Amino acid sequence: MVSEESSAYLQKVYSAKDNRELEEAYDLWAGKYDEHVTAFGYQIPAVAAGLLGKHVTPETTPILDAGAGTGLMGAVLDALGYQGQVGVDISAGMLKKARERNIYTDLHQMILGEKLDFPSDHFGACQAIGVFTAGHAPASAFDELVRVVRPGGYIIFSLLEDIYAPKGYKEKFETLGNNGKWQLTEKTKKFPGLPLEDPDLFHRVYVYRVC
Ligand SMILES: C[S@@+](CC[C@H](N)C(=O)[O-])C[C@H]1O[C@@H](n2cnc3c(N)ncnc32)[C@H](O)[C@@H]1O
Repeated sequence: MVSEESSAYLQKVYSAKDNRELEEAYDLWAGKYDEHVTAFGYQIPAVAAGLLGKHVTPETTPILDAGAGTGLMGAVLDALGYQGQVGVDISAGMLKKARERNIYTDLHQMILGEKLDFPSDHFGACQAIGVFTAGHAPASAFDELVRVVRPGGYIIFSLLEDIYAPKGYKEKFETLGNNGKWQLTEKTKKFPGLPLEDPDLFHRVYVYRVC
């Protein structure tokens, strides 16, 4: 059930003014995050898993979970037989919960939007679910995601519809396309990511192929 407490945690992460506030807010939420987003009807991982399954085989390794959080999406992929998952997240508290799942080969505290400490062309695929939303990872993060995924690999991510043009994602996606860095494979209709908390807040899931 959606509670005042769970809504307050969500508003706190949405309204974070900088990375430090965001990290602190997620550190505080980590213990109750799974319970709360389940109560919100969080359905982006289900949509994203369907799309990932169309384009990425379970033999693909390693797979980057960018903004892994407590590993909710990683756990879905693990159940589907994907192995060699590597997670990064800004919040040590969220990463601690992810570690308890024992499904990742590696977990690192890193910031999307800054340089990622991985070699170029390292990953066979990347998924980033729930991370490109209000007050979270910036459009500039895609430069590094494109760098660390091998040509031919897919980047599957969700994006809050309201920030697509206003926060520079549209421009970034077009620039990466025009520069021959990636190509759009498909995107979903817009759908409510947290339907029981906010049925009017829409997300899409995108699939891009790195060139
Ligand atoms: C809504 S949660 C999604 C977690 C997980 N992917 C899921 O679907 O449950 C967003 C996660 O992104 C992380 N995050 C937000 N901004 C980030 C950034 N700039 N760099 C790295 N992680 C970030 C947060 O700490 C949080 O764990």
